[in-house]
Amino acid sequence: MASTFYAGEPEGPSLKTESIPGPKSTEHLTQLDKVFDTRSVNMLADYTKSFGNYIVDPDGNTLLDVYAQIASIPVGYNNPALIKAAQTPEMIQALVNRPALGNFPSHDWASILETGALKVAPKGCNQVFTAMAGSDANETAYKAAFMWRRQKERGGPTVEFTEQELNSSMNNQSPGASQLSIMSFKTAFHGRLFGSLSTTRSKPIHKLDIPAFDWPQATFPLLKYPLEEHVEENAKAEADSLAEVEDLIKNYHLPPCAVVVEPIQSEGGDNHASPAFFRGLREVTKKHGVLLIVDEVQTGVGATGKFWAHDHWDLPSPPDMVTFSKKAQTAGYYFGNPELRPNKPYRQFNTWMGDPARALIYRAIIDEIERLNLVEHTAKVGDYLYGKLEALAAKYPGEFANLRGKGLGTFIAFDNPKRDQFLAKAKKFGVNIGGSGVSAVRLRPMLIFEKQHADILLKTLEKIVTSW
Ligand SMILES: Cc1ncc(COP(=O)(O)O)c(C=O)c1O
Repeated sequence: MASTFYAGEPEGPSLKTESIPGPKSTEHLTQLDKVFDTRSVNMLADYTKSFGNYIVDPDGNTLLDVYAQIASIPVGYNNPALIKAAQTPEMIQALVNRPALGNFPSHDWASILETGALKVAPKGCNQVFTAMAGSDANETAYKAAFMWRRQKERGGPTVEFTEQELNSSMNNQSPGASQLSIMSFKTAFHGRLFGSLSTTRSKPIHKLDIPAFDWPQATFPLLKYPLEEHVEENAKAEADSLAEVEDLIKNYHLPPCAVVVEPIQSEGGDNHASPAFFRGLREVTKKHGVLLIVDEVQTGVGATGKFWAHDHWDLPSPPDMVTFSKKAQTAGYYFGNPELRPNKPYRQFNTWMGDPARALIYRAIIDEIERLNLVEHTAKVGDYLYGKLEALAAKYPGEFANLRGKGLGTFIAFDNPKRDQFLAKAKKFGVNIGGSGVSAVRLRPMLIFEKQHADILLKTLEKIVTSW
């Protein structure tokens, strides 16, 4: 059965060629490789033909897509509501007159933010700094953290910089360039720009040859599954991790002014920790006057069955900053504390500072999520999918190992010993699935993924593990 949300979605996957890439894709790839590195290409797509949960390639192969452009498509390919938003005079204005937002924002920029990005701002946040990608969102959040900390140390926003600070900053030396750090966790992923890359610890291939900051990393509490059978061990892993965080805050030679954490370490292998762990992290950061930045680039915008994954934690006080991108189709960081606005203009600045066209798409996505109640929907479909996966895991021991994501919408993963072959087979059987970390199969369907799509996925997963 096709989508009940939108007319015109394919009934199911259909394969037209023996393998992917087929002859037409191969032809396009050969042409493309002359001008663009194609070594990381997963598959070539024809976006004019892709619709809803289905991605179509140039040979007409139609695949159920539960990878969704690395978890970044929220409401389906060629979503009619987004197409409508793209055809408005407002969008045309935003596209042909792209403003340098810090200098020349449009008269309606406040209204675009208030009726869009800020409508879904996490609890405790009433402001947003818009950015262009997840890495950019994190980097600018880090900069805000450094400026906040130094401002406090200096004695407040009205205290002027010293000559020594001004001059040394031009030589990349302290005190102008501060001797502070951002703490992240082992196996974390926060992006690939210079600052964000220093907090990324997932795979060497992202980091090799790039100069990096000497910043601290704490151990992420790698939990054992099933959770019910490892309660004590897991609680100890979390307590140890929090103790390490506190120790690094107190003793690291470059004091951390912020800790950045993903609600679920995504690129690093879909590693989870309990709400209690995150409450502990909030407590320990608060206790030491260190900011907590929650990186919701991959977890945000509904996929965990709440709009923000950190809504699952019942935090005693909100995170200081929440970064977002991916399914928002734009990027930035939310915050509430006015002290996180630097004391002078141009300290946090770039030419575009985001993009009103993308902010309009985010608004249309939010409207569509609300209209169709897609967060609650995803929570329900996720529960259904998880239950069926549990049954598969029991039936095929070892094939769906360390199943994780219970009660977290469709943000589900498991480990498979032959992960790469698993993903290749999935494509052969008409489903596009991604991996993360060393052995995780990660499910990142769109918010319009329904029970009937879950059934197709489950049938395919069983077919894969019985075809070895
Ligand atoms: C949690 C997290 N943070 C940051 C990023 C970086 O985002 P971008 O690739 O848009 O720069 C990613 C990308 O996968 C991510 O998953």
